[in-house]
Amino acid sequence: MKLKESKTFLNLAKSFAGECQAMTRYRFLEYGLRKEGYKCLAEIVDNVAYNEFTHARMFYTKIQSADNAVTDNIDICSGYPFKQKWDITENLRLAAEDETNETERIYAEYEATAREEGFGDVAELYKNIRQVENCHRLLFEDLYNQMKRGTLYSKSVKQKWKCSACGYEEENKEAFAVCPLCGEKQGSVMLKLND
Ligand SMILES: [Fe+2]
Ligand SMILES: [Fe+2]
Repeated sequence: MKLKESKTFLNLAKSFAGECQAMTRYRFLEYGLRKEGYKCLAEIVDNVAYNEFTHARMFYTKIQSADNAVTDNIDICSGYPFKQKWDITENLRLAAEDETNETERIYAEYEATAREEGFGDVAELYKNIRQVENCHRLLFEDLYNQMKRGTLYSKSVKQKWKCSACGYEEENKEAFAVCPLCGEKQGSVMLKLND
């Protein structure tokens, strides 16, 4: 079967559209975080957005390499989430939800279809991207829980907090509200993930 005549070809186009949207949703989230002063958290989300850009680039590359032919247009019919509002905590929860859906349902199905249709390289791409999306899910679940419980900068035991701007370190249960060395606000204190 030629890639251009397969279901996998359409799935690649849907996936490209989905990754572009995921990237933009994370840019919305990053925008909100920067506005609220969560500088380090915004940088973490910026990195995830860049991952989604790279996933989009990889799907696009597969489409463009199909049967050495030019692809002018692909008609797709697909559904995408439009749940996000301008609420940071809720958007972290929804990000984890979208990543779960992508990993366990959508890309799992596309991976199986690619394998059935004989496109092993595309199936491997889906497998590898699913692994990343699962890491994104765990990251967003962690950030959501920390945000909801108010434990991003407040822990039950003492730990080291580091200012991302100047490198100043301090051991305490609570992160410093203002860096005593450079005056950066708490949003510049580096975050502890998965604890
Ligand atoms: Fe992705
Ligand atoms: Fe992702």
